[in-house]
Formats: sequence, C-alpha cells, structure tokens
Amino acid sequence: MGTADAATAAGLSFDVDRIRQDFPILTRMIREHRLVYLDNAATTQKPKPVLDTLSRYYSTGNANIHRGVHMLSEEATAAYSQARVQLQRLLNARDAREIVFTRNSTESINLVAQSYGRRHLGPGDEVLITHMEHHSNIVPWQLLCEQVGARIQVAPIDDSGTLQLDELERLIGPRTRLVSVVHLSNSLGTINPVKQIVEIAHARGVPVLIDGSQAVYHMPVDVQTIDCDFYALTGHKLYGPTGIGVLYGREALLDQMPPYQGGGDMIRSVTFEKTTYADLPHKFEAGTPHIAGAIGLGAAADYLMTIGFDGIGAHEADLLAYGTAALSDVKGLRLIGTATNKASILAFVMKGVHPHDIGTIVDTEGVAIRTGHHCTQPVMDRFGVPATARASVAMYNTRDEIDALVRALERVREMFPV
Ligand SMILES: Cc1ncc(COP(=O)(O)O)c(C=O)c1O
Repeated sequence: MGTADAATAAGLSFDVDRIRQDFPILTRMIREHRLVYLDNAATTQKPKPVLDTLSRYYSTGNANIHRGVHMLSEEATAAYSQARVQLQRLLNARDAREIVFTRNSTESINLVAQSYGRRHLGPGDEVLITHMEHHSNIVPWQLLCEQVGARIQVAPIDDSGTLQLDELERLIGPRTRLVSVVHLSNSLGTINPVKQIVEIAHARGVPVLIDGSQAVYHMPVDVQTIDCDFYALTGHKLYGPTGIGVLYGREALLDQMPPYQGGGDMIRSVTFEKTTYADLPHKFEAGTPHIAGAIGLGAAADYLMTIGFDGIGAHEADLLAYGTAALSDVKGLRLIGTATNKASILAFVMKGVHPHDIGTIVDTEGVAIRTGHHCTQPVMDRFGVPATARASVAMYNTRDEIDALVRALERVREMFPV
C-alpha cells in the first residue's frame, strides 16, 4: 500500500463520532450552543478512560507510594511504576528509568537548566534556542545565564514561521553547550525537523533538548529515532491531567546530573554530614509526586496508542487543510504561521478587530478559541502583531466545528466591517 493509500485507510478507520463519545465535556452547551472546543493547544479535553482511572484511583486505591507495606500502598506504587512504563512506550525510550515525572513541561525544562545547565555552562558559554519558543523554553535559560554568566543565541524564522535551519547550524559555535528547540510551535503550528537538528548539533558534540509539549498529542514521537538527549512534555495537553509532566532524558546524562530539588523519596541515605541520592529516576522526584496524575497520564498514553497516530494524523491533516481554506475566505483575515510542514493550529489576525474582541464574539456562539500572545511574545514581535486569535484542533474536532468557527467569524466581520 502506498503512503497516500495508507493515509486514506487510516482516515477511514478513524471514527470521529465514536471518539467524541469518549469525551463527556463535548456535549456541554455554552450559551445555548453546543460547545465547539478549539483551544486544544492550551489544554485538551479528557477522555473517559482517563476520568475513570482518576476516579477509580481516588475511590478505591488512594495511598502514598514507596512508603507502606500495606496493600493500598503497594498497589499505588505498582500503578505509579506502571504509568512510567506506559510513558516509556509512548516515547519509545530505552528504559523506564529515563522517564522522570515532573509537574509539566515548564518544570522539565527548568530541571535541565538547573541541573544539567549549572553543571555544564560557565561564563561565555551559549544556549541556542529559536525565535518560536514558548516562554517556558526561554526564561529558564535566561535564569541560568544570569546565574552562570552564559548567554542565549536565537536562531531566526522566516515570514512563514519556518525555522532557518542554515542559520541555526551557523549559530552552533565552540561555546554552544546546549540546543533547546520546540518540536511543534504552539503559536504558529510549525513542525521543526528535530531529527535533523539533533544530527547537526551532535556532529558538533552538542546535546539537544526538545520541547515536545505540542507534538506528543498530534504525532508519534520516538526519542530513540530522533536521538535527542532530553524531551519535555506536559500531561494536560496529552489528554491527561494537569499538574503532571515528563522529562525524558538519556540515561547516561541523567546519571551524571545532580538532583534538582531535595527532600523525601529522592535519597538513599541521609545523615547531617552527608546525603546520598536514590537511583534514577527517583533522584529527580523529590517529595510525594502527583500519583493520581501520573496514573491518569498513563491511561491517556494508552488511549492514544490504542486509537493510533495514523488515524489521528490523517484526520487532523484533513481539518487543517479544510480550516486553512475556509479561514482564508473570511474577509480581511490573515493567517500567521503558514509553514509547509505544520500541524493543526490556525492562528490569525483580522483587519480592524483586536484579537480579544474576536475571541469574545465567537464565544457568544459557543466557540472556544484562544487570543493573546500565547506565551510567545517574541513571535508576536517577529510578525508585528500584539496578539493573534488561535483555533487549535484535536482528534475529536470535526469539519462542522470549523464551519461553526467560520460562521462566528463572519459575525465578527459584520460587527467590524472593512
Ligand atoms: C510549546 C509549548 N511549550 C511549553 C508549554 C508549557 O506547558 P506547561 O505550562 O504545561 O508547562 C506550552 C504550553 O502552552 C507550549 O505550548
């Protein structure tokens, strides 16, 4: 079967009506309209297997982990360890020890900055990022740079929102100690060629962190194929709970890195004179973790793998093409982020209307989109806009919902004629 045939077959076996039934919130009415949820890049809705797992855990299995000999504690410890294996499978990491549970992507990146960064960067050293990073892949490096006297280098993007790879390559110099790039931009939809970036950086002996917050729920991610050194993700975008995230790290690097926070659960032994630390990944998980969150995220990972990324990818690609064409027909609308390789994020501005007004008006029609700078102020500066409106599509969205967005935008146009 050719690639196109395979995509069609995947698209056919993907039953969006059936999938929608897994998401109870999608039947909610908003101001007498059926909710049209197009704010998935901010957070995705949760399917029943995740909701049931959370409810079951708190109703029948709640206990602290690693601390008890009683049955509930043993069960909770086993479920928490199993969640690590589920995430290992989702990312195809070599070993579950390479999966560190954190609060979110932001904490995963801060962990690398403060643990790896403080050990490996000094005065005059550089961290290379791109112009399309989320603030959570900018500010942790700025904090680190202030602490150690290093500096940030920024690889530029072009007018379509595509990373200028040749410039990125040129900026990797003798002082570059780490490259940290977003896999899929939350404000432009651009998908970066992360495998190629890793090859370029590794050829110069520089490790690479990938911020996969937006990528993991749209496409299969295989950290061994990409060959990255760190991969950060956040559970609430992956159809899982809030307050739980993952840092994947190559075992050899994690092993050498000092703990990020100190406390219970991350030690082997403590005396007032000296403390020794637990093995991976516990060394990086100080204190009682978000046990229910991890277990719920494990359920989300399994749910995604059961549905399969072939079907999800084909369906979302169809919605992206349909949405791009439909939005382009709205008078005075300009898409921001038109890279050839992009995912289902439709960011735009409309002549004569502030994005916040767009968001407020479409909300009266039950359509939820995001407006603002999307925690990417440098991207807004690059495109000369204060903010954009952003419709972001997930696997449960439909063409009808894109039509509802377009109707709502036409109402905006009536209120703000050009
Ligand atoms: C690309 C990207 N990176 C990082 C983050 C931060 O995620 P969190 O706030 O869950 O840590 C986001 C969230 O919007 C994002 O889109």
